[in-house]
Amino acid sequence: MNILGIETSCDETAAAVVVDGVVAKSNCVVSSLKDHQNFGGIIPEIASRRQMESISLIVRQALLDAHMTISDIDQVAVTVKPGLLGSLLVGIAYAQGLARAAEKPLINVNHVAAHLYANFVSLNGGQVPDLGVLPAIGLVVSGGHTSLYDIKNIKKMRLIGQTHDDAAGEAFDKVARLLALGYPGGPIIDRLAQQTGRSSFKFPQAKLRSPYDFSFSGLKTAVLYYTQKNQQSATFSVGEVAYAFQESVISSLVDKAIGACLRKKYKTLLVGGGVSSNSALRERLKTKGAEHGIDVYCPAMPLCLDNAAMIAGLAYHVGS
Ligand code: KG4
Ligand code: ZN
Repeated sequence: MNILGIETSCDETAAAVVVDGVVAKSNCVVSSLKDHQNFGGIIPEIASRRQMESISLIVRQALLDAHMTISDIDQVAVTVKPGLLGSLLVGIAYAQGLARAAEKPLINVNHVAAHLYANFVSLNGGQVPDLGVLPAIGLVVSGGHTSLYDIKNIKKMRLIGQTHDDAAGEAFDKVARLLALGYPGGPIIDRLAQQTGRSSFKFPQAKLRSPYDFSFSGLKTAVLYYTQKNQQSATFSVGEVAYAFQESVISSLVDKAIGACLRKKYKTLLVGGGVSSNSALRERLKTKGAEHGIDVYCPAMPLCLDNAAMIAGLAYHVGS
């Protein structure tokens, strides 16, 4: 079954064709990121305008790359939530029009669940697990979400914990802004922390009652106070601040996610969302997972960030 997926929940406009929920025949993404860079965050009005301009071209490109026409497509899938309302509407209106005109069924897909499903989508012939690895704990770490799911069945993911305040990606973006490093902060801090490789101090981790919940706003404030107090000192290093901040985020994500697998006695951890492209997080999760006999899966790099292949992939199961 050939499914055309459409994703416009944040600043990306994306379309992809996925066969039988697994093989991505195309995966096209255009981002309006540079139009937001001067503002230090996404401006919803700009995002939806850019999406209006690019959606037809992206869908056409996804079909071309897959060597298909709309008549080869069996179903159209679209992200319906969560996301920026104006941006979601662009994708939903386009997908509804296309599905109606081409007389194809339209499948509604949840963006957060799709981030975890990205682990099962094969891009450029890459090896992927099959659904036999379930049950699993799912860790979603993106710009808008930091949550843990109990996944017994791919159609039904049960939320077991989430952040009380900032999402992990949001914390990366805010800390990068306060260190004047640019936007989006995640990839910049990732690179800087890797280059620096150490720090002579640590930032604290939030202590919460639920073992499945997260909090990053205290960490962000600790980084702010540390920077204000020390930035005039000759020994102040932005690289060390970035490293110590990232260490704190990673430790909390790894401890909670692996802890959840141990509590539920699950042998599989699925990770997804923009922050799952973080090199140190991927490495630490795999090492800690291996120590406990837990298989950790992170999507192929292009499928960590927002994309439509994960939408078309999950739709194969949601629609059936
Ligand atoms: O999943 P995503 O593309 O969009 C949302 O659904 O939110 O995630 C975007 C987030 C941004 O906050 C960005 O800073 C973060 O993912 N991010 C990273 C890295 N690459 C992107 N965070 C840490 N390390 C990275 N390498
Ligand atoms: Zn996302």
